[in-house]
Amino acid sequence: MDALLRARLLHLALFISLLLSVLSHASSQELQIVNAERRIDLTSHIIKVYLTLKVENIGASPASEVNLAFSPSEVEHLAVVKAAATTGKKKKRTYVPLDVKSSEQPAGPNGTKYFTIILSNPLSKGETATLEVLYILTRSLEPFPAEISQSESQLVYYRDSAILLSPYHVKQQTTFIKTPSTRVESFTVVEPTKRASTEIKYGPYDNQTPYTYAPILVHFENNNPFAVVEELEREIEISHWGNLQVTERYSLVHAGARHKGVFSRVDYQTKQGNIGVSSFKHLLARLPPRVHSVYYRDGIGNISSSRLRTDFLKSELLIEPRYPLFGGWKSTFVIGYGVPVEDFLFESPDGGRYLNFTFGCPLADTVVDKLLVKVVLPEGSKDPKAVVSFPVEQRLETKYSYLDVVGRTVVVLEKRNAVPEHNIPFQVHYSFNPIFMLAEPLMLKFST
Ligand SMILES: *[C@@H]1O[C@H](CO)[C@@H](O)[C@H](O)[C@H]1NC(C)=O
Ligand SMILES: *[C@@H]1O[C@H](CO)[C@@H](O)[C@H](O)[C@H]1NC(C)=O
Ligand SMILES: *[C@@H]1O[C@H](CO)[C@@H](O)[C@H](O)[C@H]1NC(C)=O
Repeated sequence: MDALLRARLLHLALFISLLLSVLSHASSQELQIVNAERRIDLTSHIIKVYLTLKVENIGASPASEVNLAFSPSEVEHLAVVKAAATTGKKKKRTYVPLDVKSSEQPAGPNGTKYFTIILSNPLSKGETATLEVLYILTRSLEPFPAEISQSESQLVYYRDSAILLSPYHVKQQTTFIKTPSTRVESFTVVEPTKRASTEIKYGPYDNQTPYTYAPILVHFENNNPFAVVEELEREIEISHWGNLQVTERYSLVHAGARHKGVFSRVDYQTKQGNIGVSSFKHLLARLPPRVHSVYYRDGIGNISSSRLRTDFLKSELLIEPRYPLFGGWKSTFVIGYGVPVEDFLFESPDGGRYLNFTFGCPLADTVVDKLLVKVVLPEGSKDPKAVVSFPVEQRLETKYSYLDVVGRTVVVLEKRNAVPEHNIPFQVHYSFNPIFMLAEPLMLKFST
């Protein structure tokens, strides 16, 4: 072996041992959860879980990451995971939002997946931190019975673990489950378990080892309209001529218990009481203020029974489909409107432009399985860049319309599992050559 090769091998060995020590250092961060309180809100079909964790570093080295564990089925339905560090008590409490990322580390026992919270101040040996976590699950209530008649109430199953799934030892923990009404058919008991009014309390449980899992099943009434948009395409077309045209194509389904038997409009319209309690007659769309030329149409044509209310802050469009929507029924429709471009288009410091609009679905209390937001830039726009505060898939397309010479760039943003928490501003920046502004009126002149 020549000297050079030997030196290289030595180098490599050193590098590998360094790598191993870094890796073992990362996994040697030892934490325990001193106290965990979990509040599961089942009052809607969108499940919100508020988790308060008091975390302690019981290892020797500083810890900068805290892992949250989720079962494989939870991960599939997770729409949002947010975390903040809190300090102080009651009114003086302060919140510092923390980064949370889906973890690359291999799955744990029973396919457990992780999300990692990055602490802004690493925890030294013996220190504790209080973290507040919010996670949101969609499509996690199973209607049972799966089919109900027009006059029946909707009952659903919720599955979870009485004991928090965690990679850490948990010294003490309690879980509270809130149901929409006092009608609870059954719930699994994991002593101590108590039920009072619309709340079921699991725990306190002491000293649970990592990955302890105690399956529970709660069977309860939930007559919320299970409004799920299987696909929503929102096209936002920017024209420097003063208008922003928005076209939204919805395919909506009532994802609750399937409707059984014949639908009786007479029963639905005349009888009091329980008729069609889980169905929906109206949908509420929250649109920007100053909307104009609002329309709502389905496969048959324009529907004029919608009502629009506007004020300085928002517009509300109450839409009434041609028939009420029962479990399993679908409705496809289009909402269109225009807004003044100056409300949403701004000049950036570098001379370019940017659109600042709301992401998400304008319909209240709705889950979107697949959301496509398409921003159609004016002809001649270049270097588009989207800024969204949560992960989305991005791609570019080209759209040609009647008057276009070179086609228009379309920024396509795709998000799965969108919930109302995603209705927040996003931006699309682009640069623009004003010469193209002349193209449209010239074309107009020649084509008349
Ligand atoms: C997890 O796996 C263990 C054995 O590998 C099993 O005993 C346990 O029941 C599983 N838990 C769940 C919730 O599936
Ligand atoms: C529906 O109304 C919109 C706006 O008022 C209009 O542009 C469109 O042509 C109408 N569509 C039909 C099918 O009547
Ligand atoms: C976008 O609009 C929201 C309000 O609608 C505003 O709070 C935010 O600062 C705007 N963002 C940018 C980058 O202009």
